[in-house]
Amino acid sequence: MTTLVVVGSLNMDFVVTVDQLPAPGQTVLGRNFQMIPGGKGANQACAAARLGANSVAVRMVGRVGYDVFADHLKASLSAAGVDVSAVHATRAQPTGVALISVDTSGQNSIVVASGANHALVASETEAMRSVFRGARFVLFQLESPLDTVAAALKLARAEGARTILDPAPAAPLAPELLASVDILTPNETEASLLLGLPPARVSMSDAAALAHSLRQRGPRAVLLKLGDQGCYYLDGETELFSPAFPVVAKDTTAAGDTFNAALAVALAEDRGIEEALRFANAAAAISVTRMGAQASVPTRAEVDAFLTSK
Ligand code: ATP
Ligand code: RIB
Repeated sequence: MTTLVVVGSLNMDFVVTVDQLPAPGQTVLGRNFQMIPGGKGANQACAAARLGANSVAVRMVGRVGYDVFADHLKASLSAAGVDVSAVHATRAQPTGVALISVDTSGQNSIVVASGANHALVASETEAMRSVFRGARFVLFQLESPLDTVAAALKLARAEGARTILDPAPAAPLAPELLASVDILTPNETEASLLLGLPPARVSMSDAAALAHSLRQRGPRAVLLKLGDQGCYYLDGETELFSPAFPVVAKDTTAAGDTFNAALAVALAEDRGIEEALRFANAAAAISVTRMGAQASVPTRAEVDAFLTSK
């Protein structure tokens, strides 16, 4: 069995549905409230385990506090089949939480209180070596300290793994860090920010130029996530667009996480990039039709059935 490792955050998501996201200074009345396991790292680990049930083993590296949320978050991952033995508890901070509002069109706004996720410090990176050993892919996001991500990316490469970085939430990244990335997977806002451009929707005609500019910053390949348009992939030899599947969006939370996990699972199964992108678009499309982060992640059987029906 192939091994995937996810290094990143675990958050308890506090989700409220609203008719309209509040403007600055505005109070709006929400409708129902739910607590749903989330965190970009944990979402990717959960999704990789659900989607790669028979083909990949998934390990999570992260930090939680000593509280009831930690137990819930680890239980959610374990139930999906993730090995959580490298998710350690710290007394320094509470478990991370995210405050999420979702409007009627499925758009969200999210505030994250990182808490214990920031206790994944760079000085402890060496302890990840044994977790990375033998892994095919190591997946990262930016809800962990940036110097930890930089050090762990290098270590993952040194252990022979391929690295996938989801540069979310958006942050400027040093060329040295980007040089340790095999596949960089920004959404439209993150791609613009990495290039010092104002945030904007990316048209299909702009996608190629944007991906080329990003690749010049150091990653081996760039995969632009383009929301309901789909995605655009570029490496030294291949360049291709893969369209999204039309669905009615209920909540896009964790669409990007589901997409990244599905991509890693398909590539770990030695499927070609075109097939991997189609699989990732399908898994993410199903996730946007459902509420919540880990609650929305489909199983492998659901994605296979969805693709067969197309
Ligand atoms: P997130 O909302 O989790 O932060 P993201 O911003 O990282 O996601 P997006 O580009 O919004 O990334 O979405 C990731 C992928 O999810 C897209 O590339 C696409 O495959 C799928 N997707 C997103 N929105 C839709 C939609 N409305 N309809 C169909 N597929 C979608
Ligand atoms: O990508 C979605 C995730 O972002 C949510 O689950 C929330 O915890 C935030 O980290």
